[in-house]
Amino acid sequence: MQLLVAILPVLLGIVLGEDGSQGWLRYAPAAKGCKSQQVPSAIVALNSTKISPVYTAGKELQRGLRSILGKAVDLTTGGRSNSSAIVVGTVDAYNTAYGSVSGVEDLEDDGYLLSTHDGSVVILGRNQRGALYGAFEYLSQVARNNVTSGSSYISNPQVPIRWTNEWDNMDGSVERGYGGASNFFRGGYVVDNTTRAAEYARLLASVGINGVIINNVNANATLLSDRNVEGLGRLADAMRPYGVQLGISLNFASPNATLGTFDPLDPKVDAWWANITNQIYKKVPDMAGYLVKANSEGQPGPLTYNRTLADGANMFARAVEPHGGVVMFRAFVYDNHISYANWTSDRANAQLEFFQPLDGKFDENVIVQIKYGPIDFQVREPASPLFAALHNTSTAIELQVTPEYLGQNCHFVYLAPLWKEILDFDLRADNKSSMVKDIVSGQRFKRPLGGYAGVPGAGTNTTWLGSHMAMSNLYAYGRLAWDASLGSEDILEDWTRLTFGSDQIVLDTINDISMKSWPAYENYSGNLGVQTLTDILYTHFGPNPASQDNNGWGQWLRAGNVTIGMDRTIENGTGNAGNYPPEIAEMYNDIDKTPDNLLLWFHHVPYTQRLKSSNETVIQHFYNAHYAGAASAQTFVQQWESLKGKIDHERFEHQLFRQTYQAGHSLVWRDSITQYFYNLSMIDDESDRVGNHPYRIEAESMKLDGYKSYLVNPFHAASGFTAIVTTSNTTAGTATTEVPFDSGMYDVAVNYYDLFNGTSSYKLEIGNRTVGVWKGDNEKKLGHEPSRYLDGHTATRITFRGIAVQKGDTVRITGQPDGIEPAPLDYISFLPPGIVD
Ligand code: GCU
Repeated sequence: MQLLVAILPVLLGIVLGEDGSQGWLRYAPAAKGCKSQQVPSAIVALNSTKISPVYTAGKELQRGLRSILGKAVDLTTGGRSNSSAIVVGTVDAYNTAYGSVSGVEDLEDDGYLLSTHDGSVVILGRNQRGALYGAFEYLSQVARNNVTSGSSYISNPQVPIRWTNEWDNMDGSVERGYGGASNFFRGGYVVDNTTRAAEYARLLASVGINGVIINNVNANATLLSDRNVEGLGRLADAMRPYGVQLGISLNFASPNATLGTFDPLDPKVDAWWANITNQIYKKVPDMAGYLVKANSEGQPGPLTYNRTLADGANMFARAVEPHGGVVMFRAFVYDNHISYANWTSDRANAQLEFFQPLDGKFDENVIVQIKYGPIDFQVREPASPLFAALHNTSTAIELQVTPEYLGQNCHFVYLAPLWKEILDFDLRADNKSSMVKDIVSGQRFKRPLGGYAGVPGAGTNTTWLGSHMAMSNLYAYGRLAWDASLGSEDILEDWTRLTFGSDQIVLDTINDISMKSWPAYENYSGNLGVQTLTDILYTHFGPNPASQDNNGWGQWLRAGNVTIGMDRTIENGTGNAGNYPPEIAEMYNDIDKTPDNLLLWFHHVPYTQRLKSSNETVIQHFYNAHYAGAASAQTFVQQWESLKGKIDHERFEHQLFRQTYQAGHSLVWRDSITQYFYNLSMIDDESDRVGNHPYRIEAESMKLDGYKSYLVNPFHAASGFTAIVTTSNTTAGTATTEVPFDSGMYDVAVNYYDLFNGTSSYKLEIGNRTVGVWKGDNEKKLGHEPSRYLDGHTATRITFRGIAVQKGDTVRITGQPDGIEPAPLDYISFLPPGIVD
């Protein structure tokens, strides 16, 4: 009966709704034709302790096989294994139970041996965690119907540190998180219910993640209160069965409240940290270690006392060393008040300036954690030169899984190709092969430690990250941290099979959307290495390039009327190109050798500079790329729609909403950036598209009743620079006109603004027929960072497809304001088939 219940939906061809909470561990019932003879008849987990990772592996195997194959398999913790059993355990436990096993000499910590022969499966780890990883891998193969009988292989991780950095705040919010509230904190304290933490650890363990820093790098000293330290113990207990070790971020000034100082060379401060560390290890005996953001973006640090960053890092290193812990010390240190007037100042130089002189001065259990590029998770950056500059210091790469600058999971961007470009980049230190992945693995400079820190931004949303598709990024992060030689598409295919099934159309479509997603986003956000042209002073979401220049933050474009780009050359500029090893420095320093996609990162050029690859001018490339990128985002909607009925309704609709939103917002990006640079440069678009919108009716040109014109800021976030808002915040307004276009079928798009804190209602009527009603409630559905203004963050679009329209029909939009949202409208487009505008 159980079997029937499990496979009934498959037999009936029903695709049941899913909420995403199981991520890629759904264990969907196998399709007909699966090789059921491979199903083992028993599971032997060689550890009877219920909270051990090996026992967890046994339970997980049982759960997975029941769900995928509809087969209830007994789980025991010892005894003889029969010929069709799965045995999972450590090598030592196996040797004790069954005598010496061979072929495990190369097995390293956390690695596994997976051996499948005629229905008998042996999964062994050097440690318990490795055995659990092997079990997850076996289940992944079963779920993908990809078990190869007669095979035996070992998989070892390339690095010991494969962590996530959760940026969860004690008040329950998640910095740069778009998937709801914190899984770990509420109201200043660790949550009472740790179920979600355990579920998260399960997901992470399935892709080899072995540590979770549970709180924001902008850390709060109250984490170290007695009540919270006790809470840390509970969280660690919840995650330990999955082999995931807990770690925490520290506020450098924590001792200040009791000691009146946080000088790292003051013995009192040292003793304070040793003491609190000992207290924490009493509750969390296997704590992974500390993560420290110091002297960055207002955070306290050792520089206050004229001590070096190494002095600061080593203080924590001394505290955790007796317990076997490590310190991840962030290289994201820079001055956010540098002088824009000074042509040679450059935030991108800060990491090297601070850290290179300290090479070799860090304790052995310190790892310097370096963001992939020199600035801050932009849509494209060169690899940070710091990776090549520290030869006597262990390093880790920091990757942002939560796309703070790449659409905040309201746009979909598959990030593995971006990460791969960095990991595979050869920095040529000492003129030798020095790929970033080989540096952070410790291999290149023969360092004992190294690793990966990923920032997922997970929250309490059932989708974890706010979007089902975004989970491919978390999956890919874990897989690459284990083995950076894997290909982005191979990883994606595994994820898709596990997440949405193995229908070829589903696989092909998701592959196509995903692999086009980063190029599309780069095209409509920021090109040629100029960075994501977002609002860096506010929400980092929508377009606002002017916000990047003329301030001390150093994310500069240096965009003027005639020229654009950062001059990072050695002779004339900031010298940043010279931070790289000679072969790379020579390339980046020379405009003729710098790849076009980093042209504006390294060089300041006229808008009329021609690109090597296409012979387009820089400005024409901006125009072309923005049109191409937005056009690509439109196709994702149709591609996703082609999956209707092939994946469950719930996830289909959820993602369709996001793809539709992205398609609309990509047009906002396109128009905004092209208009901005047209206004700056006054150079026409050769194709005459910019500012030329023959299918639009501007709202401000309609007959307004209860509405008034409103100049939008930034100006380029409105078509014609102007929108309309209701004159009162309680009474509805109308905007009316007549259809000036020929009679026919149109897609009718309305661009409006959806502000945080207000749910306006809208009605569109054409020829006295109601074409659509909708609410400005994106803030309840999307999860990007809120804005309370009419701007590039709130500008959005709704489209009504296939509307029969007569020339001269009355068009009326009625807007009912709500809260701070005055039912703002920008324009209506009547789009003939095939036109996007
Ligand atoms: C970015 C991000 C901040 C974060 C910081 C960091 O600047 O916007 O929210 O705190 O990076 O990585 O420390």
